[in-house]
Amino acid sequence: MYRAGAGAASRISNLPDGARIPYHGDMSTPHELSGPNPPADPLALLARWIAEAGTLRVQPNPNAMVLATCDADGRPSARVVLCKDVTSEPGYLTFYTNYQSRKGRELQARGRAAAVFHWDALHRQARIEGPVVKAPSHESDAYFASRPWPSRIGAWASAQSQVTDSRAALERSLAAAAVRFGAPLPGSPEAEGLFTGTIPRPPHWGGYRLWAEAIELWVEGAARLHDRLLWTRRLSPSGETFHGEPWSVRRLQP
Ligand SMILES: Cc1cc2nc3c(=O)[nH]c(=O)nc-3n(C[C@H](O)[C@H](O)[C@H](O)COP(=O)(O)O)c2cc1C
Repeated sequence: MYRAGAGAASRISNLPDGARIPYHGDMSTPHELSGPNPPADPLALLARWIAEAGTLRVQPNPNAMVLATCDADGRPSARVVLCKDVTSEPGYLTFYTNYQSRKGRELQARGRAAAVFHWDALHRQARIEGPVVKAPSHESDAYFASRPWPSRIGAWASAQSQVTDSRAALERSLAAAAVRFGAPLPGSPEAEGLFTGTIPRPPHWGGYRLWAEAIELWVEGAARLHDRLLWTRRLSPSGETFHGEPWSVRRLQP
């Protein structure tokens, strides 16, 4: 399992001593997708790629992914979110957001999403598609509680994706949320001290699980002869969760 935090990068191109960015542009260099025996568990490999991008500090947010959703009429939209967990067994990615945001409304309407990661310096891309369900509330509660208190105040202050009159109106909303929970105003001199009061998770904020029904891992190759492996499986709903059949894998032309 990948979990955000450990080894997360803070600066671009600040490689630790001895670290080497693997470059697969030379087709004679074997890598995990080039051989005849593909890895059996694509999500475990995805988790490793995210972790490696963190360890090698190739970009500030190695767990950033572009998440695409569709509205009820099939009109697509996309934005970046952070993948906070890859749970390779039974097989989903977790991200957190506002349930009433545009993406939240579109997930409500269609219940499916596609995500793409790109690690430019590592010459790797990963695409994931499948159904999306809300994470269990106890999981969202635990993650929310782990966030810095100013972020928790911010989750109450912002009706994400709604139009606002002004920046000042947003700041008033932040101040009102801070007063409501007895917290200092985030960013003020008093806020330097540790705030230990309780800030509950807003009902409109929490996690989603993107269940992997299809996952493509891509490694750049010379002469545009990239390696692309596509794993697919059937997912059957089982209550609030899914049962996944074994993966089958095929190689795609670049
Ligand atoms: C690096 C990065 C990470 C982000 N992570 C998140 C995230 O984890 N959750 C989230 O709701 N928005 C995140 N955002 C903001 C979203 O891209 C987006 O602006 C916001 O969720 C509203 O999207 P929507 O109106 O399409 O719902 C992130 C943006 C960037 C650039």
